[in-house]
Amino acid sequence: MTEATPGRRVERPGRPRRKTGRVPGDLAAGRTPAGRIPPDSTSAGSTDAGSTDADRAQALELLSAGTLSVEGRLLDASNATLYCRVELGGATAACVYKPVSGERPLWDFPAGTLAAREVAAYAVSRAAGWDVVPPTVMRDGPFGPGMCQLWIDADPETDLLALARSRDNPRLRDMAIFDAVVNNADRKIGHLLPLPDGHLYGCDHGVCFAVEYKLRTVLWQWRGQRLPRRAIAALGRIRDGLDCGPLGAELASLLSSPEVRATRERVDALLRHQVHPYPPENWPAVPWPPV
Ligand SMILES: Nc1ncnc2c1ncn2[C@@H]1O[C@H](COP(=O)(O)OP(=O)(O)O)[C@@H](O)[C@H]1O
Ligand SMILES: [Mg+2]
Repeated sequence: MTEATPGRRVERPGRPRRKTGRVPGDLAAGRTPAGRIPPDSTSAGSTDAGSTDADRAQALELLSAGTLSVEGRLLDASNATLYCRVELGGATAACVYKPVSGERPLWDFPAGTLAAREVAAYAVSRAAGWDVVPPTVMRDGPFGPGMCQLWIDADPETDLLALARSRDNPRLRDMAIFDAVVNNADRKIGHLLPLPDGHLYGCDHGVCFAVEYKLRTVLWQWRGQRLPRRAIAALGRIRDGLDCGPLGAELASLLSSPEVRATRERVDALLRHQVHPYPPENWPAVPWPPV
């Protein structure tokens, strides 16, 4: 069997505890799945230590075409967020499946659009070369169409509060700029998924891509500071992807035209001003609770 999830699948003390309705067998036993693809440290084609292109392609194929079985429900989630296993030709991985039918209606986002926003967030992360969003696809499942995302076994040793406050972690800074691009309205500490090798993923990008400025995050430590050079390069890749790469068409299939236009405008504004944004004035700028 091949396991496409990097890291160990264990509960993490000292971080917001993840509760499932039914604890998956190997999670409960704390077993490390055998034959797993190791987390990449030799990635060619990516700007950071994340998955290799081959790992990513395999994960996307597995998530898209694999047989999905629900193993539990994440009880601390606000939507129907299901912990699942996906299996294809002997390869297997843990994943999160959020069916559109389980989305809690929100006053400020159109109903039934959160799953597509999560897939769009993955597309932006990939186009930039940030690799801050785990592989995420739209697919059909036991409760209808929804998003399906690779489960990341985050490092239980990482102090998430300290990580979220850090000012000198380039990957966290990438995450802050990614959030500014996608206009993330819910970057909580518990949505940070650090790996033992230093790579950082984030999850829960359902409330992104609003047209109005709604950035709500725990990562304001760089506000007003000059963007690092690597951020300018990443933003340039997004701009290219929107203009002449596949990103424009991908986003157009997942978001409304005004939302795609607003995304382009946010990228252009970041490239023009070259500073981290300030908190919005008419909008709660920090999520509550922040974890
Ligand atoms: N891909 C993932 N890998 C690992 N943990 C995840 C992943 N997606 C979600 N989680 C965990 O599950 C919790 C609930 O998921 P989340 O996406 O926040 O659901 P909701 O949209 O309902 O708030 C997250 O805070 C995080 O701890
Ligand atoms: Mg959440």
